[in-house]
Amino acid sequence: MSYPLLDVFKGVKTPVRPVWLMRQAGRVLPEYRRLRSKYKDFKTLLKTPELAAEISLQPISRWGVDGTILFSDILVLAEAMGSPYEFLEDRGPYFPEPITNPQVFSKLREVDVETDLSYVLETLRLLRISSPVPVIGFSAAPWTLFAYMTEGMGTKTFSRARSIFYSQPDFSKKFLDLLTTNIISYLRAQIEAGAQVLQIFDSLAGFLPPSIYKMYILPHIHLIVESLVSFGVPLIFFPKGLYSLWDEMGSLSVGGVGLDWQVSPQEVIPKLSGKVLQGNMDPALLYGSQDRIRKETHNMLDSFCGVPHIVNLGHGLYPDTDWTHVSSFVKSVREYSS
Ligand code: CP3
Repeated sequence: MSYPLLDVFKGVKTPVRPVWLMRQAGRVLPEYRRLRSKYKDFKTLLKTPELAAEISLQPISRWGVDGTILFSDILVLAEAMGSPYEFLEDRGPYFPEPITNPQVFSKLREVDVETDLSYVLETLRLLRISSPVPVIGFSAAPWTLFAYMTEGMGTKTFSRARSIFYSQPDFSKKFLDLLTTNIISYLRAQIEAGAQVLQIFDSLAGFLPPSIYKMYILPHIHLIVESLVSFGVPLIFFPKGLYSLWDEMGSLSVGGVGLDWQVSPQEVIPKLSGKVLQGNMDPALLYGSQDRIRKETHNMLDSFCGVPHIVNLGHGLYPDTDWTHVSSFVKSVREYSS
């Protein structure tokens, strides 16, 4: 069998451009909302492999996208390290005890993925048997996890995370090192459990100045990527909001780079030659009319012409998007011929 999402990394010309959407599994879908109200808690869903696998496959049945992303969350790794979190309906993720100093940090540990995150691996094994398209595993990058775990929740500025990063450099370095070690084990285990593509989300990359990111964060990304490259599984790095380190992104040993919607493809294509580029439709476009969706999707596809491209949004699908507009987006991709 050949799959567009895998072929694109092999340099094979695919008959269609592969398409999937970040956050494709979730509240946009009525079938997800039904399960969510039946089982009440988001964490119950992702910790029950049969349910997590069922939810992961819902977007495939609904839209026929080219990849099945594991239904989980980036914060499960934080919990496995010893920092539990809750999901508050009105606020999102919340850590009752953020990792703000060396004393709290000392409670964190190296994970044993097979035991601490067995539910993720079991979900991947189920998906590998049942998914008709390649299975995508994922983790957050060290900085994004550091920022959530120190801040304790999502905020507008992540100023607590940034202040800890600057004011406690030794502790921050130790914390990033531990996160890096754990992310490597976690992603390796995902490959062994059946993940065929991996995405590394550095969703908060843009909160640091590029020079700081380059000096203190990028070495961790290199270490993660170099530790995984021998497995031969395509890696996609998504550094959201990082708009000036394209040469550095080009030097990473990853197959793919995810672009958010504020990036202009024309500007970065010359700097990322040899990489598969993923993205980068504004998720808010899906609030537009079906005609508008078609037109802008075709414009976006034009702008990636001639480069290996995975069609995606520039960030996750917003939960109140009309799922029929997602259908229009996917249909617009399918009818496009380049
Ligand atoms: O992409 C997918 O479909 C796979 C599943 C997935 C989820 N979260 C499901 C989810 C993935 C890949 C993530 C990653 C994630 N989680 C990131 C990185 C990507 C990004 O968006 O930048 C981050 C920062 C998180 C942390 C997180 N989890 C937040 C901020 C929230 C609340 C957001 C909200 O919409 O309320 C979550 C919850 C979450 N993760 C939901 C889902 C489906 C909503 C759960 C629900 O209420 O039913």
